[in-house]
Amino acid sequence: MVKVLITYFSKTGNTKKMAEHIKEGLDSMGDVEADLKKAQDTTIDDLRSSDGIIMGSPTYFGVMATEVKDLMDRSIQCYGKLVGKVGGAFSSSAMIGGGNETTIMSIVQGLLIHGMIVQGVVKGNHYGPVSIGAPNEEVRDECIKYGKMIGELVKKLG
Ligand SMILES: Cc1cc2nc3c(=O)[nH]c(=O)nc-3n(C[C@H](O)[C@H](O)[C@H](O)COP(=O)(O)O)c2cc1C
Repeated sequence: MVKVLITYFSKTGNTKKMAEHIKEGLDSMGDVEADLKKAQDTTIDDLRSSDGIIMGSPTYFGVMATEVKDLMDRSIQCYGKLVGKVGGAFSSSAMIGGGNETTIMSIVQGLLIHGMIVQGVVKGNHYGPVSIGAPNEEVRDECIKYGKMIGELVKKLG
């Protein structure tokens, strides 16, 4: 069974809830193993052993939080080993225009430098799920849909 890791940092729970909803989407597929881990607890082995990696962070000054950046920096240890895996990102911010999309892009930059494959979204949050504060029903649906989309791509790529 293919494996997707959802790794995130969350101080007040908003990004964590998004991560759980993305897992909901992956779990609903029935044939994808979805692991949920805090960025701080995520090991290099977790990254290497996953077919897809989705990273989530609250928006901190328009970029990823230190804890997520620390994971990204630690991932240099497996540089060249994540090529061709599927990547994705999501973010929670306080306000519209507060930088959640730039935060996603800051994560995506790292994923691309690893040679990972990042799929955009046609109908919905184009770069990955975003939430203003805690996820509402609409964001929950976006997260579930995103989880399924990533799961489908991971399966397609084998
Ligand atoms: C250090 C810090 C920087 C922040 N910077 C921004 C920001 O630039 N734009 C924004 O909209 N919200 C900003 N926020 C608010 C958080 O992104 C927002 O509350 C988010 O939902 C928190 O996610 P969490 O509950 O997963 O910790 C900041 C919060 C902190 C603590």
